[in-house]
Order: sequence, then structure tokens, then C-alpha cells
Amino acid sequence: MQINETMNAAFNDQITMELQAAHNYLAMGAWLESAGFSGMAAWMHAQSAEETEHALKFYQFVLDRDGRVMLGALNAPNSEFEGVVAVFEASLAQERDVSAAINNLYALAMEEKDFASLPLLDWFVTEQIEEEATFSQILDDLALAGGSAQPMLFLDRELGSRGAGGE
Ligand code: FEO
Repeated sequence: MQINETMNAAFNDQITMELQAAHNYLAMGAWLESAGFSGMAAWMHAQSAEETEHALKFYQFVLDRDGRVMLGALNAPNSEFEGVVAVFEASLAQERDVSAAINNLYALAMEEKDFASLPLLDWFVTEQIEEEATFSQILDDLALAGGSAQPMLFLDRELGSRGAGGE
């Protein structure tokens, strides 16, 4: 079923948002690496790759429904952070923005009676619950670590060993 123009435009915006998230996480990874947290940096790189995959899910969906993919411009990411906690706080804020955007897409699909989009959007609703929970957990762990060298080193190793960002 061909996607209508309204949904097509909204999905294109979402593709750009996911790519912006990938861009932002890459910048965060660079900051973490420079600050000596190579495990967390690796985790962020995996997270960035996962955001690109999210963009590609929407991208393929639009194409499969005979729509047009029109990529938007990306903004330069913030590359300066006060510390590790600030990096993960910015990440959680970004995920909350993405969740809100997915909710809006869902509402739009209902309004447009574009029921063919709902299975994909359902997947993203569930994914966003996981994404927010993951970042919240890391922030809880960082709060417990309190910036002390030993627990921070442990956390860095733990995140580095996880490999895939979207756990
Ligand atoms: Fe694709 Fe983490 O939102």
C-alpha cells in the first residue's frame, strides 16, 4: 500500500532524527575516548551504529511503500561535555525526544488511517522503552560510582564488554 505524502514526510523527518542521533552518539564516543573511557566510547560507537540501523528501518519502509526518501541536513553535534554523567544525561534526553517523536508518528498514523505503519511503529515504541531504560540504568550506575576511580573503571570495562549498544 503506497504511503501518503503526509506520512512520507513524517517518516523522512524521523530518518533524519535517527541519523542525527547516530551523529551525536559518535561525537559522544569521541569525547569519552579522549577522556580515557575507552569502554564507554566503544559502547557509544555501537549505539551510534544502532541509530543508523533505526534510520535504515524507516528508510527501507518508505521505499517498500513506494515513497521517496529525502534526507534532511544534520546539525553539528555537541562535542564538549562537563563529564561522563553529562554525556549520559544528554543521551537520555535525546532518547526521550525520540520517544516523543515516535509517539507523534503513531498518532499521525492513526489520524491518517495508515494502519500499514503500525507494526513498524509498534516495534519502535518497544525499542524506545528499552533505550530509555538502558540509559537510565547507566545513569543510576554512574550515580552509585560517584566518580570514584575504581567503580568508574569497572563500569567502563563492563560497558566496553557489552559490545552492542542497544541492550
Ligand atoms: Fe533510535 Fe535511540 O532512538
